[in-house]
Amino acid sequence: MSDNLHQLRCFGCGARIDGAEAQPDFRCVSCGDLFEVEYPGWSERGGHDRPNPGALKWLWRERRCSSDALDHSGVWRFRELLPILENFDNAVTLFEGNTPLYQLKRAAKALGIEQLFAKHQGMNPTGSFKDTGMTAAMSVAKERGFEWVACASTGNTSAAMAAYAARAGLKCLVLIPDGKIAWGKLSQAMDYGAVTCQLKTDFDGCLRLLTEIVKEEPICLLNSVNPYRLEGQKTPAFEIAEAFDWNVPDHLIVPGGNLGNSSALGKGFRELRELGLVARMPKISVIQAAGANPLVRSFREHQATALEPVEAHTRATAIRIGNPASWRKAVRAIQESGGWCLDVTEAEIAIAKAELGTEGLGCEPASAVTLAGLKKLCAEGKIASSETVVLLLTGHTLKDADYTIEFHKGTLLKDEEVLGHETKIAGLQRNAVGVEATSDAVLGAMKGTVG
Ligand code: F0G
Repeated sequence: MSDNLHQLRCFGCGARIDGAEAQPDFRCVSCGDLFEVEYPGWSERGGHDRPNPGALKWLWRERRCSSDALDHSGVWRFRELLPILENFDNAVTLFEGNTPLYQLKRAAKALGIEQLFAKHQGMNPTGSFKDTGMTAAMSVAKERGFEWVACASTGNTSAAMAAYAARAGLKCLVLIPDGKIAWGKLSQAMDYGAVTCQLKTDFDGCLRLLTEIVKEEPICLLNSVNPYRLEGQKTPAFEIAEAFDWNVPDHLIVPGGNLGNSSALGKGFRELRELGLVARMPKISVIQAAGANPLVRSFREHQATALEPVEAHTRATAIRIGNPASWRKAVRAIQESGGWCLDVTEAEIAIAKAELGTEGLGCEPASAVTLAGLKKLCAEGKIASSETVVLLLTGHTLKDADYTIEFHKGTLLKDEEVLGHETKIAGLQRNAVGVEATSDAVLGAMKGTVG
């Protein structure tokens, strides 16, 4: 018996196709929009394939103590809600997911919020949230017999893809914007054996070119236009709901780049609600860097009905994206959940990242936009003190150690960017100091009299 219960539905015109009929660029032949995975058997109440909420909650909890390898994955533990494979035994896993949810007591106190948490997706096997999506899409690629997989990336997708391709025994091609990705991420793609091409263009240019290439050669495209990526990336929604005993938090705050992740989390919570596992969705807010904010502009200037690409600039290189592929899906997640879309400056990002650091949570600059965005939402009175808020931290701090070191050395930001934030930044900077190899000198450094 097949484990596969899915079909693909075009987000634009609603056309439905079998998964294996998808075009290499995963776009609809009629209208050019993206597909999403749907499970027709779920729609009938009492229908044969419709999962039973109570049974699922019990089963998923039981699997935490299971010795079955697939149950150790925080994605495939929830496999009843992603029946995308002919056989679940074909899953390619590095035991992704099951990431920690940390309480942020200091930031909560500073903001006057009672319950603030960080779901740290940087604690995945390759250090970013991409692993949850990659296990799903790589498994489909392998099951369908592809020899080659490929992605355009600002770094994390390539790191994840290279690792999962290596596990699956597939070859992989990575296109990255030359000089615009963090070294930690590039080193991962090399380590896992990817063919890595650094192109003299930006992320959007890399994705455009790759979309042409996959039409010419039998290569499986693993960017988040691939709808199976989003099936894996929806599972943190299940973990969050489970952690709150199926009473979802009031608000989830997510960084926005190519906008696959916010779309996936929206889908995850929507499905939980439609299947009766939770009563409502959390508000989902998407935060972009001010220099890479096409979705913010779309809301501001076009009520989110059109999106004009921008030339993107931000030191949060992971989200340096000017023409996000999944913007329509993200708009739906924001609008149906009642969330917001806003942007934050380079100084606000750097400060928020350092503040998370003081609570023992390291993350990438792209992840820190969530705390910076939360501060803005609080200042605008959009969050009540009684609300439970979860920040989604997307990447590990070691991905981009240069950024952190430059912040602490004081060489990260330009004077005009620092303006108005001088005291705050000075209070957070902890540059390493050179001291004599004597106890007096070291004790002096401890007490702040040296350096
Ligand atoms: N945070 C991190 C650390 C990322 O790497 C990305 C995207 C995002 C947030 C934004 O997520 O694109 O789903 O809105 N990185 C991609 C990459 C584009 O190639 O690694 P999104």
